Amino acid sequence: MDLSAEQIQENWEVFLDNINTYIRDPRRKKLIEFYKKHEEEFMLMPASHKKAYHNAFPGGYIDHVNRVVNGALAIDKIWKEFGAEQNYTTQELVFSAINHDLGKLGEEDNYAHLPSTDEWRKKNLGEMYKFNDAIAYMSVPERGIKLLVDNDIKLTNNEWLSIRLHDGLYDPANEPYLKNYMPELKPRTSLVFIIHQADLMASRIEFEKEWLPKFGNKEVKKDNFKVKNKATAKTRALGTIKSEGLKSMLDNL
Ligand SMILES: [Fe+2]
Repeated sequence: MDLSAEQIQENWEVFLDNINTYIRDPRRKKLIEFYKKHEEEFMLMPASHKKAYHNAFPGGYIDHVNRVVNGALAIDKIWKEFGAEQNYTTQELVFSAINHDLGKLGEEDNYAHLPSTDEWRKKNLGEMYKFNDAIAYMSVPERGIKLLVDNDIKLTNNEWLSIRLHDGLYDPANEPYLKNYMPELKPRTSLVFIIHQADLMASRIEFEKEWLPKFGNKEVKKDNFKVKNKATAKTRALGTIKSEGLKSMLDNL
């Protein structure tokens, strides 16, 4: 999927507008300054360097980040509707979404994505970009946090954790934070899970848009998702419950 020059420009304006709308000074000013310093790179960066991953086309990075910001704002409403504690602010939510993948930039004087010059790898492996080996290895969340700190942009605990853990349990390095059964060691904010959900949703949608038509399933058979006979489904569900009290409570729903 390719974006037109107009779409790339429009996405960039939406991106800057989110900073101006949701982030308060002095961080707003510092973020705008930082992103404008690398404007061209951010506008044209892909979200990933291999075609098989999501949004691996020019402008793919900002397209993805904007989707995560919108997704996080929408998912936030669902969490609130279901009674989630308000243990984070909207500014923290948007700040985390905007910067969650910032580490993909690479270093400020040594960007991570170089256009591939290897025709064979482009054609056969779909590697449209080459990862710049000159920069030291660091995980994307950690490099992103470093870039913010280097530019004197301070993070709250909620933002630090949400950016650091945005890959959820897809990254085993997050297990000490997320696979812990001791209440005092669990994250004290739902924001960590909201940012992960928004990123997961955005990447999945980007994958579906790019790849599912290529697999030939342009139309999803809607019938597959319908519960054909509600009574049957309910009876089946109730059959698995052993407690009589719980069974009669659920039966009345
Ligand atoms: Fe992401």
